Amino acid sequence: MKKFTSVSDVENLQEIIKKALQIKADPLTETEKGKGKTIGLVFLNSSLRTRLSSQIAAQNLGLNVLTLNAAQEAWNLEFADGAVMNGDTVEHIKDAIEVLNQYCDIIAVRCFAGMKSKKDDVNESILSQFEKHAKVPVISLESATRHPLQSLADCITITENWKKDYKPKVVLTWAPHIKPIAHAVGNSFAEWMQEMDVELVITNPEGYDLDKNFTKDVKVIHDQDEALKDADFIYVKNWSSFDDYAAMPEVKGDWMLTNEKLARTNEAKVMHCLPVRRNVELSDEVMDGDYSIIYQQAKNRIFSAQAVFSEILDELK
Ligand code: CP
Repeated sequence: MKKFTSVSDVENLQEIIKKALQIKADPLTETEKGKGKTIGLVFLNSSLRTRLSSQIAAQNLGLNVLTLNAAQEAWNLEFADGAVMNGDTVEHIKDAIEVLNQYCDIIAVRCFAGMKSKKDDVNESILSQFEKHAKVPVISLESATRHPLQSLADCITITENWKKDYKPKVVLTWAPHIKPIAHAVGNSFAEWMQEMDVELVITNPEGYDLDKNFTKDVKVIHDQDEALKDADFIYVKNWSSFDDYAAMPEVKGDWMLTNEKLARTNEAKVMHCLPVRRNVELSDEVMDGDYSIIYQQAKNRIFSAQAVFSEILDELK
């Protein structure tokens, strides 16, 4: 694997899921693999799971880890090409990446959607600068449009929880939120699930359809009750409008996932990437209930990252 920014960087999804599950069974079989090599984890946005799971994964492979919480600790970055830097910005992203090239064998970056310019977000204005200027493999720790390490962890979690002999019905359901949220997790989950042997259905209110470039021919149902019928897995996530970019059109009805709604499913397992707003996106009873596999998902972030870092290290040898 030469880089990891989307599912298209994975040659064989089933193989990498299998590898991640082998790592989970015995995480310390490759402790020498990253010896003498350094991974830079650059966070332009907040994180709990991605930061810590990536650090554990890298340490399990013997990698040196540099974590830069750029938004809090680094110089104020300029992203615009040709900018006259006589304002608040102190260091151009191009220069920062060139310096990271001197220190790191792998650069992993978190760069969320700015949610101000649809064009900038759709074109991955920050990740694309890393891809352009990095001279080492680039890994996405969540970008404007995708969250591939999360999606791989989601695939691992579904695989672990599915032993029946038919395709599971997986429902990606929109959930309420108090502020406009980016599309990366929803887009990415839709994209990865289309590579899995599942029946994917997306449900969201009118005005909240995700970008067709990610959902393609997946069925989108605007009636949550109908979509949840016979679901085997429910993935709960909020996102703002894509068409009316970052807007929050009025929503009719209550979309928060509750036990009452779960009763319509096929004893569906409930997933969420976290962090979650309890009693807004889903109820306490669901979060703490027997059908939640949400903490398992969070644990699998380690093995998703470790499988990817290991594959990238194979290329560096
Ligand atoms: N799910 C996820 O990426 O969590 P963090 O934002 O805490 O890293």
